[in-house]
Amino acid sequence: MMINTDRKILNSKEIFQKALKEKYAIGAFNISNLELIQAIVEASEEMQSPLILQVSQKAKEYIGNNYLYKLVEGALFSSTIPIVLHLDHGESFDTCKECIDMGFTSVMIDGSKYDFEKNIELTKQVVDYAHNFGVSVEGELGKLSGVEDDISIENIDAIYTDPDKVKEFIERTGCDSLAVAIGTSHGAYKFKNEPKLDLKRLKKIKDLVGQDYPIVLHGASSVLSDLVKLNNDFGGKIEDALGVPEDILIEAIKLGVTKINVDTDLRLAFSGAVRQYLSQNKSEFDPRKYLSAGRNSVKELVKRKIKIFGSENKA
Ligand code: G3H
Ligand code: 13P
Ligand code: ZN
Repeated sequence: MMINTDRKILNSKEIFQKALKEKYAIGAFNISNLELIQAIVEASEEMQSPLILQVSQKAKEYIGNNYLYKLVEGALFSSTIPIVLHLDHGESFDTCKECIDMGFTSVMIDGSKYDFEKNIELTKQVVDYAHNFGVSVEGELGKLSGVEDDISIENIDAIYTDPDKVKEFIERTGCDSLAVAIGTSHGAYKFKNEPKLDLKRLKKIKDLVGQDYPIVLHGASSVLSDLVKLNNDFGGKIEDALGVPEDILIEAIKLGVTKINVDTDLRLAFSGAVRQYLSQNKSEFDPRKYLSAGRNSVKELVKRKIKIFGSENKA
């Protein structure tokens, strides 16, 4: 089965080239259910922003391939903006191949847990297959690590992306974009104290790869304090959560980040609104009611992201 509408999903090439020229970033939003996809697509349509819908392996399993096709078809039927369907953190050649064969237009092969040579070999294998079908490939060099990893100044160079290796990685793999490690991490607990990214490293990488090569920032949720508070005010217990402040994201975009991955903020927005709804409407048990609250909250958040990323009216 392939995704079937008159309107095609696109690979990321065109939207990245326009973003690079005009120095804005495109949000890559993780989907895992109907309400998230509706919220993200509606927000992007209203803002006339190009959109990367991304699905992790776990989310793909959660939704199921048959439902995923129809959700993406629904997104295409309901909107006019350019949409890319991207596999987030593909772990193996087989998973990437399965998604390419299904009609994904972009895949990430995450070889960051392997050594340099093995990462190159795996990424190149995916690129060689993907390019036969016009599918874009995102690679990753360097490791994203969370607060629990306790990174010391001495081991930063072993974890963050080595700018001197980046060009060789891109040349030998042929990957179309590269995710870099400069201090972000996945989830809601990104920093112990002050949020800080290694923007000097990002600038160095960008200078080496060239201004027209797309760099990707994972783990880029801002973990907005209002959203954390909303969860905690209505029964949640999310403590010491810290994300990447929006002003740092704006700096990173100025330095040339082209794709920004967001999942945690969507989860916080959705869960906070659902918690609030249920706790303020104790006799209500219609899922459409509380899921609408979650959907509206995510939609507002995505609009805010699009403004920060600068992709409004770029569709
Ligand atoms: O990068 C990780 C994304 O947030 C996806 O998370 O594997 O729990 O779906 P997941
Ligand atoms: P966050 O956990 O910061 O939202 O990052 C998501 C991500 O990088 C998905 O690949
Ligand atoms: Zn990620």
